[in-house]
Amino acid sequence: MKNEFVYEEIRGLHLELTTKCNAMCPMCNRNFKGKVREALPILELTLEDIKKILSPEFLRQLKLISLCGVYGDPLCNTHFKEILKYLYICNPYLDIDIYTNGDFYDEDWWKELALMVKDYNCTVIFGIDGIGKTHSLHRCNTNYDNIIANAAMFIKNGGTAQWDYIVFKHNEHEVSKAREISEQLGFSSFQIKKTSRFLKNFYEMDPNLDSTILEYGKHPVYDFKGNIKYYLELPENQLYRNITEKVYLDILEKKDNISDYFNLNKIYCEALKTKGLFISAQGEVFPCCSVYQQVCYKLIHDVSDPLELNEYYLYLKDDLSAFHKSIKEIVNGEFFNSLVDSFSISSIEDGKPKCCVRTCGKNLEAHKNGHTTSIKYRG
Ligand SMILES: C[S@@+](CC[C@H](N)C(=O)[O-])C[C@H]1O[C@@H](n2cnc3c(N)ncnc32)[C@H](O)[C@@H]1O
Ligand code: SF4
Ligand code: SF4
Repeated sequence: MKNEFVYEEIRGLHLELTTKCNAMCPMCNRNFKGKVREALPILELTLEDIKKILSPEFLRQLKLISLCGVYGDPLCNTHFKEILKYLYICNPYLDIDIYTNGDFYDEDWWKELALMVKDYNCTVIFGIDGIGKTHSLHRCNTNYDNIIANAAMFIKNGGTAQWDYIVFKHNEHEVSKAREISEQLGFSSFQIKKTSRFLKNFYEMDPNLDSTILEYGKHPVYDFKGNIKYYLELPENQLYRNITEKVYLDILEKKDNISDYFNLNKIYCEALKTKGLFISAQGEVFPCCSVYQQVCYKLIHDVSDPLELNEYYLYLKDDLSAFHKSIKEIVNGEFFNSLVDSFSISSIEDGKPKCCVRTCGKNLEAHKNGHTTSIKYRG
């Protein structure tokens, strides 16, 4: 694996089209104690923005675009279909994955989307975390029946859909039933997601990250006034638990220090390995969504714990806006190079990026370990 980002070799792009969303998932970065974070800028990229940032030449070198994001749902971008059209005009061979809660628009809109993409490699990944009312305990403010009607219309008209199911204690009993329903409805795959978000209790100590409020395995769900309504809890079935959990529990059991573990751990950068890149709804370019989110810990979450700020200090030294510079200049610039250099610093106190070690450190890889169980029905 090369130890530097090479613009010409980039093949995968994770694109955040907007920071808008209709839902209020309690563990989502956009929300804090029942409300959207006050400092979150509500933005969306327009078609003109996309044309400025993503040249046809750059799009032609890509294989995969994930329309997902950290702070919003791609379908909330009002220019969504025009943008999708532009991406396919520039490169009809692209694989495009669209991640959504699916509770938008009417069935006609979904039929039109299916007809638009059915001859391309395009998959809509619906986040459906339970059946009926169970679903809305995590996907708050969204309605299971609407989502199923939208997905069914999309599939009926030739669209390819995947059902992603994040497992908690309150919905683990419905996994098999949901899998059956997904097959009956014609989803092409069903994926069990083993959330890594509870693990934050082990390593994020800043109160603005709401990781430290309760004991491990219990995440409060608030009403909009900030009162706790109920808790999201880890599933009991070990098969649905993220295996990275074992590493942290082992450290605790041995009474070892998590900071020492992070300091000694070697980083195997997933973005370098997969030749990936991330662009935010503001048009800023990062190696991946985790580093972007870490920088936002200061900008949006107002985190002051110095151990969380190494990536932010590197960010301050460069301009990562694709509106001001080409993607090539950014990838070859100060931020990307110093980030890779900082992987080998000996401690987080001295500048080793904490987000990189907890995301891509040896044996950690919590995010990757959350996506392991996928059943494909066809293709
Ligand atoms: C911020 S969302 C953006 C895309 C879209 N709005 C959605 O929810 O699919 C990015 C990813 O976070 C995932 N996500 C949300 N809450 C989660 C949780 N508690 N645990 C694991 N993943 C979660 C979503 O399923 C999605 O794949
Ligand atoms: S649907 Fe996606 S973006 Fe919206 S609140 Fe839930 S996780 Fe966040
Ligand atoms: S978190 Fe850091 S190490 Fe992991 S993919 Fe992103 S940049 Fe690379």
